[in-house]
Amino acid sequence: MKYIIFNWKSYLNISESMNLSKVVSKLPSTKKYKLISSPNNFYNLTLKSRYPKNIYAAQNVDLHGKGASTGSIDIQDLVSNKIKFCILGHSEVRSNFGETDLIIQKKTDLCLHNKITPIVCIGEPVDIYKSKKTKNYLKKQINKIFKKSNIYNEVILAYEPLWSIGTGLTPKMSEINDILQFLTKILKNYSFKKIKILYGGSVNLSNIKEILSLQKLDGVLVGSASTKPSFIKYFK
Ligand code: 13P
Repeated sequence: MKYIIFNWKSYLNISESMNLSKVVSKLPSTKKYKLISSPNNFYNLTLKSRYPKNIYAAQNVDLHGKGASTGSIDIQDLVSNKIKFCILGHSEVRSNFGETDLIIQKKTDLCLHNKITPIVCIGEPVDIYKSKKTKNYLKKQINKIFKKSNIYNEVILAYEPLWSIGTGLTPKMSEINDILQFLTKILKNYSFKKIKILYGGSVNLSNIKEILSLQKLDGVLVGSASTKPSFIKYFK
């Protein structure tokens, strides 16, 4: 089964998110795909109560939870509203809000402690890619986010090269495969009960088939293309 995660970022308003959730809810259930929608956090709770069978992911969560914490999203709000997944360390959160690997490490632990599966994003900037230092860069990110002494439950790792997000550029299939093999190898140094590796960055209707044909890839994390009903209907 391949994980297909729709990251709607902040593209949609509430009624557009409702409409897309309706499209998702109407798809026949299939063992081929696990569909997870990640709307803007403001709408998650409304959408989950309207479409309880859809699977939703939060786009982030805060370390400072309930209480005097203006602007925070408390993990208990996700738990009590049956939001089972949470994207962490997306490059836009890293760059817009200064989120560091250390913060992502803490949030990963917080999610797992509350039985929420983290979707942890990693990926290299263009200069690192061009100087062929991607593997070293990803290894460092992983090293900072995961602890060798921990036993992790289910974790989803999304490899999203920064230069590929929103640009229409994707790595060659052979490059994605190479990174997948590398990640699989280094993740063996950690204890995961279940680990899935996804690719994200400019996935769309014209490349989805080829990308999903990569045997070792467990799925995709899709941004702007996933805001189109035609893309969602591909997964019927
Ligand atoms: P795009 O699919 O719009 O390139 O975005 C990818 C992404 O950031 C998914 O999290």
